[in-house]
Amino acid sequence: MKNGYKKRAMVCAMLALLWALGLTACASSGNKEKNTSDTTAETQTELQEKEEASMTQTELQEKEEVNTDQTELQEKEEADTEPETGSGSNILVAYFSATNNTEGVAQKLADGLDADLYEIMPEQPYTDEDLDYGDSNSRSSVEMDDPDARPEISGTVENMEQYDTVLIGYPIWWGEAPRIMSTFIESYDFEGKTLAAFCTSASSGFGSSDSALRTAADKATWLDGKRFSAGASEEEVMEWADELGVVPDSEF
Ligand SMILES: Cc1cc2nc3c(=O)[nH]c(=O)nc-3n(C[C@H](O)[C@H](O)[C@H](O)COP(=O)(O)O)c2cc1C
Repeated sequence: MKNGYKKRAMVCAMLALLWALGLTACASSGNKEKNTSDTTAETQTELQEKEEASMTQTELQEKEEVNTDQTELQEKEEADTEPETGSGSNILVAYFSATNNTEGVAQKLADGLDADLYEIMPEQPYTDEDLDYGDSNSRSSVEMDDPDARPEISGTVENMEQYDTVLIGYPIWWGEAPRIMSTFIESYDFEGKTLAAFCTSASSGFGSSDSALRTAADKATWLDGKRFSAGASEEEVMEWADELGVVPDSEF
């Protein structure tokens, strides 16, 4: 009886010990799980923070892109209304160019003279169809058939008073300056300024292509104009500028 009691007591003690050990194990495994879930929670938070940070970066990037777009738009608007100024030059080279030939000559002139450059931009750009001189109903044909046509210009030269000399470039259309050049000339007061026209053409000479412009700005001093080929060199265009006497410190 005594031995049986002892045995039972030992079994109970062992069971208690096993339970205690089990609890400890559970507790430590619980801690582990807690630790794991803590780690998971931390990782999730970190991830979330990272996501938020990257979202913010994306948002920032988008914002920057929007800002860049806005700046570009603003710059474009300013470019449309203002010549490329900054040189403080008193010479402006203003040109219209439908297919970029006259633009090349105008840029060489402006570079050589360190002058400001202004592109006369049509409110409604000319398409290839508009420029089809083989079609009597094309926009350019219709405009050139009407001496009173005045295609609208997008933008203006705000600081025209800054310039003493304005060199005016255009392509020859049917032997004349395109009507948009009349729109340009009639938009400003050129009294007291020196003006000279230059043009590019397929083969026609300068002729009297600037006669309508001279009539419109008859209080300006007009110098002899010049026709250039599309690929005229800077030497060629600067020779003409030198003949005009508008090169500041002439090397030509
Ligand atoms: C409607 C139209 C009419 C033209 N008429 C003539 C012309 O009478 N004589 C000529 O030699 N070239 C003529 N051309 C050719 C342009 O004068 C020439 O290609 C010029 O260099 C174009 O200059 P841009 O690229 O600055 O517009 C004409 C072109 C067009 C579109």
